[in-house]
Amino acid sequence: MYQFKITDDEFKLFKEFIYEHAGINLSEQKKTLVTSRLSKRLRHFSLDSFKEYFDLMLASPEGGERQVTIDLLTTNETYFFREPKHFAFLENEILSQWKGGKTLRVWSAASSSGEEAYSIAMLLDDVLGGKRWEIFGSDISSRVLKKAQQGHYSLQRIDGIPKEYLRKYCLKGVGEHEGTLLIEKQLRQKVSFAPVNLKRPLGNVGLFDIIFLRNVLIYFDMETKRKIVKQLVEKMQPGGYLFIGHSESLKEIHDGLETVIPTVYRKI
Ligand SMILES: C[S@@+](CC[C@H](N)C(=O)[O-])C[C@H]1O[C@@H](n2cnc3c(N)ncnc32)[C@H](O)[C@@H]1O
Repeated sequence: MYQFKITDDEFKLFKEFIYEHAGINLSEQKKTLVTSRLSKRLRHFSLDSFKEYFDLMLASPEGGERQVTIDLLTTNETYFFREPKHFAFLENEILSQWKGGKTLRVWSAASSSGEEAYSIAMLLDDVLGGKRWEIFGSDISSRVLKKAQQGHYSLQRIDGIPKEYLRKYCLKGVGEHEGTLLIEKQLRQKVSFAPVNLKRPLGNVGLFDIIFLRNVLIYFDMETKRKIVKQLVEKMQPGGYLFIGHSESLKEIHDGLETVIPTVYRKI
């Protein structure tokens, strides 16, 4: 198969585009990634260069080929019960003390295909018993959100789910669905997904008791991180918790938050 080559100028165009729209900071090392992910679109449109694709993409309406480019340039790696210490903290330090009375609201703020939101949902349902709760999942990529809404996953991707939760909350596919798993309808009904670009104003999402903002800050530069964290803190209830990924840091950008344990913060 013919391998396209991206020039420095072409790479710069996509680098600036994805920074402007998503806040994602693509380093020079990401050239191969950009080339391999976008090449299929050049083939799809029978184009000869990345510049031609860039022009076509830019001329497309919002939600058209622009969204395809954003979908292709985001990294959506995720899995169930990722970073298990966070789930232990959530259970032992937050949920065990939750008195109920009002609905516990949790936001998976870069949810990717939904594994994080459904992991939280399983834990909440198990631990909170009859107390009310709801989860909102959001992402910039419409492709992964579609998958999240379906709650339908390959069995190869479910290693992190405790056996008891597999029995309680997951349906094993049969016939044409062999090799897949569907999150139970009752659980799916308490988890909603919608597109939210963290780089833009967040809109009317309400206030949350807990926000998971994990493994997304690594793609942003300092200025974007600061802006995003500030916006999210405004959407937290006083005393609410913010979780970030274990390889991430809020050093110098945690105004209005106190550190509870590394990677878990609380709104003051
Ligand atoms: C590596 S995944 C992390 C998924 C999950 N939080 C986890 O920890 O497993 C990062 C997600 O951030 C999303 N993302 C990147 N830039 C974004 C932005 N500006 N607004 C919202 N989501 C964004 C990507 O589409 C991707 O699905």
